[in-house]
Amino acid sequence: MKSMNKIVISVGGSIVNPGNPDITFIKSLSSMLKELRPDMLGIVVGGGRPARTYVDAMREMGSDNYSMDLAGIMATRMNAMMLISAMGIDQKTIPETIGEAHDILLSNKIVVMGGTVPGHTTDTVATLLAESCGAETVYNMTSVDGVYDSDPKISKSAKMFDKLDYREAFEISLKSYTGAASNQFMDSVSLLIAMRSKIKICIFSGTDLQNARSAFNGKKFKGTVIG
Ligand code: UTP
Repeated sequence: MKSMNKIVISVGGSIVNPGNPDITFIKSLSSMLKELRPDMLGIVVGGGRPARTYVDAMREMGSDNYSMDLAGIMATRMNAMMLISAMGIDQKTIPETIGEAHDILLSNKIVVMGGTVPGHTTDTVATLLAESCGAETVYNMTSVDGVYDSDPKISKSAKMFDKLDYREAFEISLKSYTGAASNQFMDSVSLLIAMRSKIKICIFSGTDLQNARSAFNGKKFKGTVIG
């Protein structure tokens, strides 16, 4: 099935729900996603602000990471259900495993989901989905426009990488790991999965839909390519 055109997208929760659902943006995003007509389209949605709000509150209450992850997963599934509605897709079940997602993908050609189990983020879910269906690339639509050598919000001299290999990306990701709801450009597990199956990762701003279109169409885009 390698010759088919398969697209797997990790949609950062913070771009669909930075505090409240960004309805105007979600409508534009949905139209753009519906324009893509690959043979298979897997969309994995993150938890955004609600995930962080719950995880932060639970952390203050002394919760364990496993439980905080479970709360985060619930937020991702709410966002997934919202995107299903916005896109007008006939899908009433949010798959809870990659296997379930894979089966929906085979029969419907499209699947939207959130998280699966504690211990990673939706970036890993997207990478595993790509691995299971033989997609060559994971597109990560996120709240930053690429991977930087330092925090561009703090350092004016921060430089964005056009390209990184898996190991370099893994090390940068690991440095910012702080447990449930970490602030990483991509979680470290997802990079290991990508490395073992040579899945290319394209990271770019999810709010610049014109740039995202270029990335999906294989044209030049602003962002970081890992692989
Ligand atoms: P996200 O995938 O949204 O994490 O899941 P993120 O990368 O921190 O946030 P955005 O969306 O890119 O802004 C939110 C949280 O839910 C838990 C983790 O705690 C994660 O940080 N989660 C998510 C899991 O435990 N397992 C999953 O499969 C997905």
